[in-house]
Amino acid sequence: MNNILIKEIKDFDLDFVLKLKKLEIENLGKVSGINEWFIPVLIKYGKLIVALENSGFSKCDKKTEILGVSELIRDWNDYNCAFIHSFYVRKHFRKKGIGSLLLEKSIEILKKDNIKRLELSVDPKNFAAIYLYEKFGFRFCGFRKDMYGKGIDRNIMACDI
Ligand SMILES: CC(C)(COP(=O)(O)OP(=O)(O)OC[C@H]1O[C@@H](n2cnc3c(N)ncnc32)[C@H](O)[C@@H]1OP(=O)(O)O)[C@@H](O)C(=O)NCCC(=O)NCCS
Repeated sequence: MNNILIKEIKDFDLDFVLKLKKLEIENLGKVSGINEWFIPVLIKYGKLIVALENSGFSKCDKKTEILGVSELIRDWNDYNCAFIHSFYVRKHFRKKGIGSLLLEKSIEILKKDNIKRLELSVDPKNFAAIYLYEKFGFRFCGFRKDMYGKGIDRNIMACDI
C-alpha cells in the first residue's frame, strides 16, 4: 500500500491510451466500449485518476504499471454532481486497499472542484463493488432495467460528498 501513487492524468500519448484500452477490456470487457476514441475525451473534459505503482516516476510512460482506474464525468444538468463512469482495480491487485484509496482520492479531487454529489451505476450482483461504495456512504437510489443493453441491469447509487 505504501508504494501506491494516485495521479490525475492531464496529458497522454497514444501508447498510454492503448495501454489503458487494453486494461479496460481485461477488467470490464469489450462491452464497456472505452477505447482510443473515448479516453482522450475523458482526459480533456472529464477526470481520469489512476493508481500507479510508485516507482519514483510520476509520468505515465510505457513502463509505468497502472493498478487501478477511476473515470469521472460531470453532470451537464447539475454542475455540482459527477458520475463515476468506470472504476476498477486490476485483478491481481484487488483486496489490497487500492480500490478504497483510489475512491478516497477521487472524492478528494472532486471536492476541490466543488462537486457535492457523486453518482454511479453498478451491477446489482457486483457485491464487492457495492460493499466498497457503501463503505464510502453511497446508497441505493434506483434500479434501471436493461440500462446498458438487454439483460444488463444496473443499480443507481449516490453519495453526498
Ligand atoms: C470493486 C473493486 C474496484 C474493489 O477494489 P479493491 O482494490 O479490491 O478494493 P479494496 O481492497 O479497497 O477493498 C474494499 C473493501 O471491499 C472488500 N472486498 C473487496 N473485494 C471483495 C470481494 N470480492 N468479496 C468480498 N469483499 C471484498 C475488502 O475486503 C475491503 O473491505 P474492508 O474495507 O472492510 O476491509 C474491484 O473488485 C474491481 O475492480 N472489480 C472489477 C471491476 C468492478 O466491478 N468495478 C466496479 C464497477 S461499478
